[in-house]
Amino acid sequence: MKALRIHKPKDVRVDNVDDPSIEDPRDAIIRVTSTAICGSDLHIYNGLVPQPRPMSLGHEFMGIVEDVGAEVTNLKKGDRVVVPFPISCGRCYFCTHHLPTACENSNPNYGVRSGLLKEKGGALFGYTDLYGGYEGGQAEAVRVPYADYGPRKVPDSLTDEQVLFLTDILPTGWTAIDKAGLKGGETVAVFGAGPVGLMAMKSAWIQGAGRVIALDRQGYRLDMARTAANAETIDVDDEDPVDRIFELTGGYGADVVVDAVGMEAEHDLGVLERVHDIVAKHQGGSLEVFHQAVTACKRGGFLSVVGVYTTEYDNFPLGQMFDKGIGYWGGQALVHNYIDQLLQLIETGKLRTDDIITHTLPLDQAPHGYDIFNKKEDNCAKVILKP
Ligand SMILES: NC(=O)c1ccc[n+]([C@@H]2O[C@H](COP(=O)([O-])OP(=O)(O)OC[C@H]3O[C@@H](n4cnc5c(N)ncnc54)[C@H](O)[C@@H]3O)[C@@H](O)[C@H]2O)c1
Ligand SMILES: [Zn+2]
Ligand SMILES: [Zn+2]
Repeated sequence: MKALRIHKPKDVRVDNVDDPSIEDPRDAIIRVTSTAICGSDLHIYNGLVPQPRPMSLGHEFMGIVEDVGAEVTNLKKGDRVVVPFPISCGRCYFCTHHLPTACENSNPNYGVRSGLLKEKGGALFGYTDLYGGYEGGQAEAVRVPYADYGPRKVPDSLTDEQVLFLTDILPTGWTAIDKAGLKGGETVAVFGAGPVGLMAMKSAWIQGAGRVIALDRQGYRLDMARTAANAETIDVDDEDPVDRIFELTGGYGADVVVDAVGMEAEHDLGVLERVHDIVAKHQGGSLEVFHQAVTACKRGGFLSVVGVYTTEYDNFPLGQMFDKGIGYWGGQALVHNYIDQLLQLIETGKLRTDDIITHTLPLDQAPHGYDIFNKKEDNCAKVILKP
């Protein structure tokens, strides 16, 4: 079968690989009908998350069940399912305590301490050997472990485009807002109007925000934040984002700030900074947006970080966060906890997410999809691949 594989940074190819097969009684094989490219894939593509051997990428996928292992009784051949991107066993301490991303069983590199390079949380589909080495879903078919726990059946009345984002970006945006515990009427500022930021904005309205402010440096993505997520917008290239948030909030700052940019923040650099940045890139990118997010947050406010950061960072603004009494949550999205509730919101028409799709391509054109999504060319916001 065909699969999109990373060979080295900026080198992804559609290769012929072996078909997946049942390796464990809890496995299922899914024939992929739709899969998306994520900002998280770009960290591997750009070399910030290294992958030493060719591996198929993709953790946002859905499709038709082709085969199930002996212990998978909830699914049968022909079922149409969406699959959460974290691989979780459903039975360990963390899976049974609403922390599926901390699954103790799915990742050979699992570590209780973390902080050490080779100690990670639960595994993720198509996300390098460090996160379990599972082949990804940007492929014609994929092996899904613990298939009696993760995949959710979706009704035929909904298109792939309507439900695909239940696999990742919608629960990710939703988690960021839910962790902030809105009481109603809050001002929510979202750094990054990419797919994840847009889902956070949509989630903020449904969870009771009074105001949603989007920040980005791509005009066409800010347009989308206005049209698809009804947000006020700040172009960070035109004005100082922090000053502008204080202006818009009567000098207080935003009640809730979401960092949906992460370590690959783009910013203007002086010569010295440029040298530092080249070194820093190899050490895990930039804290630029994180600093702005902390500064723009109201005293006593809440900061949710869903943009990815992979290493330790010097100059982390802990004193500033302490002085302001800012609440914090960051991490991989708790997809399993929210997916059923979110499917209901889509089914009842209270939430739509397919309005951010700008490109639908055959799997063969996936390398082009990566290129334009990474360079933000052709007004690309979200690419769907059809294997
Ligand atoms: N925590 C999770 O579970 C989870 C899940 C999915 C994605 N993510 C992460 O969320 C982040 C966003 O993902 P995405 O798919 O939306 O990716 P994306 O790359 O399309 O979006 C990032 C956006 O940030 C903007 N940006 C860059 N520099 C900026 C700056 N200095 N100020 C303001 N905006 C800036 C970009 O223009 C872009 O629109 C990535 O880091 C991704 O890995 C996390
Ligand atoms: Zn993703
Ligand atoms: Zn588990």
